[in-house]
Amino acid sequence: MKNLQSYKEKIKQFNNIKELLTIFDSFNNYAQKLENSYEQLLNRVKEIDQKMAYTNECLNKKVHELDNLTRFLNSVLGSMHSSVVAVDTEGKIVTFNNLAGKTLGVDSETVLGKDIRTVLGSIGGFVDLLLEALSKRKNVKNMERIIEIDDREIKHIESSISVLKDENGTITGAVEIFHDLSEICELKGRLNSANDLISVGTMAASIAHEIRNPLNGIEGFACLLERDLEGDSLRLVKHIIKGTKNINKIVTDLLFVARPIKLNMRRYELSKIIDKALLFAYQELGQKGSRDIQVVNDYDNCDDFVLCDPDRLQQAFLNIMLNAIQSMPRGGQIKIFTKKNNNHNIPKIQIGFVDTGNGINDSTIEKIFEPFFTTKDDGTGLGLAIVRKIIELHEGSINIVSEFKKGTEIIVNLPADQYTTLSASRETSFLNKVMA
Ligand SMILES: Nc1ncnc2c1ncn2[C@@H]1O[C@H](COP(=O)(O)OP(=O)(O)O)[C@@H](O)[C@H]1O
Ligand SMILES: [Mg+2]
Repeated sequence: MKNLQSYKEKIKQFNNIKELLTIFDSFNNYAQKLENSYEQLLNRVKEIDQKMAYTNECLNKKVHELDNLTRFLNSVLGSMHSSVVAVDTEGKIVTFNNLAGKTLGVDSETVLGKDIRTVLGSIGGFVDLLLEALSKRKNVKNMERIIEIDDREIKHIESSISVLKDENGTITGAVEIFHDLSEICELKGRLNSANDLISVGTMAASIAHEIRNPLNGIEGFACLLERDLEGDSLRLVKHIIKGTKNINKIVTDLLFVARPIKLNMRRYELSKIIDKALLFAYQELGQKGSRDIQVVNDYDNCDDFVLCDPDRLQQAFLNIMLNAIQSMPRGGQIKIFTKKNNNHNIPKIQIGFVDTGNGINDSTIEKIFEPFFTTKDDGTGLGLAIVRKIIELHEGSINIVSEFKKGTEIIVNLPADQYTTLSASRETSFLNKVMA
């Protein structure tokens, strides 16, 4: 009985072991399966890793391509001969090329992302057209207009505006492409006045000789009479002599405007030229008894030298000063300043003459450089024509801002010495240059 019992016990143990072995077996199977799955998983991870590396590489390439494209686009925008400004729908600047910065006098690096009204709002007549095109969703083609930079510089520009849309046709902003036509307009104006000068020149050359000969005779005889006469007759003869001198001056001025001029170029101190012109202007002041005119000088002595014909420049400055003095019959102030202006491609020296005289009204200001235009009873209207000719021969320019009954500011811009391209002594013929 006991044996049977122990036998049963053994059988039970044996069954347990068998069961255990079966469990081991199935455990082994699972372990094997798990190992296989793990290997598969590893392979999959490797595969995904490879795919990821490939995708990354593609992405990097794309980013690189995009970078190159952006750089290329920026360099295209930068080297364009047109100014480009683009805004998004809210008026924030998204594109602004270098030329736009130069034309409008702002730093193109700092304006991106800013509201166009804040950055360019002070430029009279500029932002409205772009914002209106954007709000009305209307393109603009080749529109010419005048803009005013800092209340001072007037520019003539031509703009085309396109409203920008994405692929779904949704408006994303607007782009304005514009050109500065100021120089072309100025050239047109100069050509017109050059035509005037050509006709004046032809006429002057033919009559100057005929006038001068008898005129010298009249003056000579009058001087002889002056010695012999007295009383009223002497007074009359003096009038004749003064009259002949005046006519002689007009003929000389006229010939100056009309004839080719040879400049005698030298390096010379600007302040000395102005001071010499002032000496002559003081004589005029003394004669007219206009002693209530105060002269204020403000010279930039660091950049005093210019390459110029000092005598001619002195003549131009004197003409400007005389006009200023004559515009202040009840006295006033004339301020003369020089300063360097680096805002241009070629640095300039500015010479400014600011008076507190009668000023010039809007309808007159366009004509003041025309030969013979004068508003004075005893004027010849040749002073400013001579000024302009002299300044242009020096490759400079002249700007006038005037307020009627308040005063006039005349600014002469000359190329700064080191950049002046004129040779030391050069035959210059304005008329020949224009007629070529
Ligand atoms: N500083 C000034 N202030 C007011 N008017 C001026 C000034 N400069 C020039 N003008 C105007 O320009 C005109 C032409 O000047 P200009 O050619 O020198 O001839 P003129 O002095 O003989 O009249 C003047 O008659 C005057 O009306
Ligand atoms: Mg004058």
